Amino acid sequence: MGTQVLVAPSILSADFGWLAEEVRSVERGGADWIHVDVMDGHFVPNLTIGPAVVEAVHRATKLPLDVHLMIAEPERFVPEFVRAGASLVSVHVEACPHLHRVLQLIRQLGAKPAVALNPATPLSAVEEALGEVEMVLLMSVDPGFGGQGFIPAAVEKVRRLRGMLDARGLRVQVEVDGGINERTGPEVVAAGATVLVAGSYIFGAADYPAAIASLRP
Ligand code: DX5
Ligand code: ZN
Repeated sequence: MGTQVLVAPSILSADFGWLAEEVRSVERGGADWIHVDVMDGHFVPNLTIGPAVVEAVHRATKLPLDVHLMIAEPERFVPEFVRAGASLVSVHVEACPHLHRVLQLIRQLGAKPAVALNPATPLSAVEEALGEVEMVLLMSVDPGFGGQGFIPAAVEKVRRLRGMLDARGLRVQVEVDGGINERTGPEVVAAGATVLVAGSYIFGAADYPAAIASLRP
């Protein structure tokens, strides 16, 4: 932790035909983690990748895999994603009526548990579980697609979450995901974010290392 800002490129915007090469490029370019967006066509209106692709990405890089599960009943698939190489697993609070049980399962399997919130979900939804997580993922777009516009209310939400964590003395990463670029990234970092996810901003750039560097203060 500390004050260092971690950058986690989202492979959702990578060229899937060259996925291993894309992952190696951002690793060489200074990425800290690889962010993997898993979608089920049910919790979100899009379908992406499953454990087999996570396993292939794991073979392509030494970086930790930050697996963001945008799926219903995530507990059904957590073991497979951890086996495939996930270092962190984020589950959405909106998909978990028994949140503690899912977070404990992730930890028992040897990965770091994290909880994700959609932009319209209040922080109070995770307040009772803050002691169980390594990270809170605040969505700054409604999940489902890359390339959407940043929802400005996310900045104040980051600030309030950081205040809640500090008040409890908890060392928890705050990750922001959606519409992060050289303008919005520093704004959420100033508010207390420690991990920035960026998909289209990094993979849409001609120069990946420059795009990654531009996100750090
Ligand atoms: C959105 C995903 C994001 C997405 C971000 O549902 O969770 O990780 O890849 O893409 P950008 O950075 O393009 O908003
Ligand atoms: Zn994501």
